[in-house]
Amino acid sequence: MRFLILFLTTLLLLTISLHSKSENSNEIKQLHDQQCSGCHINITDGDGLVIYTRSARMANSLQELESLVKHFADGSDAQWDQTQIQQVTDYLNQNYYGFVEKNE
Ligand code: HEC
Repeated sequence: MRFLILFLTTLLLLTISLHSKSENSNEIKQLHDQQCSGCHINITDGDGLVIYTRSARMANSLQELESLVKHFADGSDAQWDQTQIQQVTDYLNQNYYGFVEKNE
């Protein structure tokens, strides 16, 4: 019985943490889509996301990507904090750029 309760509690906690992780990445995507996609869609005349996969990309490293995200976040009136900049950088890197993590 004890074991069963322990097992169910673990399962519950695991489910909660997996769930909140995917909710979190949805939020980051939304944050990006709301504040960044409109303009990129205008420029690219359609699918704004192609701006991240062009053959001549502006961002050629994780550091460059982060400073571009910061640049655009500063330039728009988004007022993102460092965490949001970091999260959107990671989001773009995981989905489009695939740079290797920087060593700190
Ligand atoms: C006012 C319009 C505008 C807004 C808003 C905007 N961007 Fe951009 N973005 C551009 C333009 C224009 C380019 C392409 C510049 C070029 O090709 O010379 C670009 C390019 C980029 C690139 C480089 C893509 C590459 O080539 O690797 C990144 C990264 C980027 N934007 C991120 C963002 C993020 C993150 C946001 C939201 C915080 C954002 N942008 C909001 C206009 C905008």
